[in-house]
Amino acid sequence: MELTNTPHLASSSFFFSSCSPCACRSRRTGKAVITAFAAGSRCSADSIYACPEPIEQHNVDSLSVASGPANTQCYRRRDFAAVALLPFLLPHVDMASAADSYDGSIIQNGVRNVLSKVKAAGVLRLVFHDAGTFDISDKSGGMNGSIIYEADRPENAGLSKSLKILRKAKEGINQVQQVSWADLIAVAGAEAVALCGGPEIPIRLGRLDSSTADPTGKLPEETLDVVALKTSFGKKGFSAHPCLLGRTQEMVVLSGAHTIGGKGFGNPNAFDNAYFKVLLEKPRPTSSGMPIGLPTDWALTEDDECLRWINIYAKDQDKFFADFRDAYTKLVNSGASWRTA
Ligand code: HEM
Repeated sequence: MELTNTPHLASSSFFFSSCSPCACRSRRTGKAVITAFAAGSRCSADSIYACPEPIEQHNVDSLSVASGPANTQCYRRRDFAAVALLPFLLPHVDMASAADSYDGSIIQNGVRNVLSKVKAAGVLRLVFHDAGTFDISDKSGGMNGSIIYEADRPENAGLSKSLKILRKAKEGINQVQQVSWADLIAVAGAEAVALCGGPEIPIRLGRLDSSTADPTGKLPEETLDVVALKTSFGKKGFSAHPCLLGRTQEMVVLSGAHTIGGKGFGNPNAFDNAYFKVLLEKPRPTSSGMPIGLPTDWALTEDDECLRWINIYAKDQDKFFADFRDAYTKLVNSGASWRTA
C-alpha cells in the first residue's frame, strides 16, 4: 500500500490519482483528496526503482514484498471509494474489517489530528533522526522506529516533544488499526511537509519496528565539513547510481528541510526554497544578530557540486519539491523491513 499525502481534510468532495510510467501525481480536486494505493500498486517515487540496470548500494531489499517486482513500472491504480470515505465514518468504523486491511488514510488522519504548522519542523526532523542511522555496510539502523529508544541521545535533544505528539496520534490510530512507529513517522514527516506548503509525498506502508536502539554515532554532526558530510550520506546508501539522484544532490535537497523550523531560513512555517536563496546571499545574513543555519548548511556552499544544486533549487522551487519528494522517499525506505501481508 502506498499513501499519498493530500490536502488536509476540511470539506471533502472528490478523489482520484493518476499514474504514468515514471511519475505519479495525486491531483487535488476541490479542497480534499484522499488517495490510497492498493497493495500491488506501484507509482510515483517508487519509479526511481524502476530501473532496468542492476541496482547496487541502495536499501530497498524488501521493496517488492508489498509493492510488486522492483522493475515493474506503474501498475493499474485502484482507488477505493470506501477507503476515501473512511475518515468520515471513523466513529462508526467496523473494527474487525479495518484490521483486515492496512488503511493509510487512518494513519494520515490520525497524524492530522495532532499536527500543526508549529509542530511540523520537529516532526520532520524526527524522520531524519530515525532513518538517518542507516548504515549500508552492515544494513544496521534506518527507518525502524528505534528513535523511541534513542530520545536521550545528545543528537536527539528536543525530539521528545515531537515523539510525544506522535505518541498521541499512535494511541488514537491503534484503537482502529495497529501502526508501526516507522510508518507513523514516515507519514507524519510527509504530512508536515505538505502542511507547510511543500510537495505531496506518497508513502509506502508496511514498515516493521525494531525492538532495540540503533548503533550510536551514525547521524552527521553539525560541525562536519562537506567532505565528511558526503561520506556520511554515502554510508546511508545515497549513491551515484544512474537511476537514483546522486548522493550530493540528495544530500543538498534533503538539507533543504532546514527551510522550516528555527534555523532562520525565511518563514519557519513555510516549506519553500528560501533555504537555498538564503545560502546564496552575500554577505552571509544574520537574523536579529544571530547566525542563520548550521555550519553544515554553509559547508554546502563551499563545494562546487553542492553549489550547483543550491543554485538550481534557489531558482526553481518546483524542481526542489520534485527532488525532495524522491530523496525523502528514499530516506524513509532506508533500511526498512517490511511486513509481508
Ligand atoms: C546534513 C546533515 C544534517 C545535520 C548536521 C542536521 C542537524 C540539525 C540540527 C543541529 C538542528 C537544530 C536542532 C535544534 O535547533 O535544536 C536541525 C534542525 C532540523 N533538521 Fe536537521 N540536520 C541535517 C539534515 C537534516 C535532514 C536530512 C532533515 C530532514 C529531511 C532535517 C530536518 C531538520 C528540521 C526540519 C529541523 C528544524 C527543527 C526545528 O526547528 O524544530 N535535517 N538539524
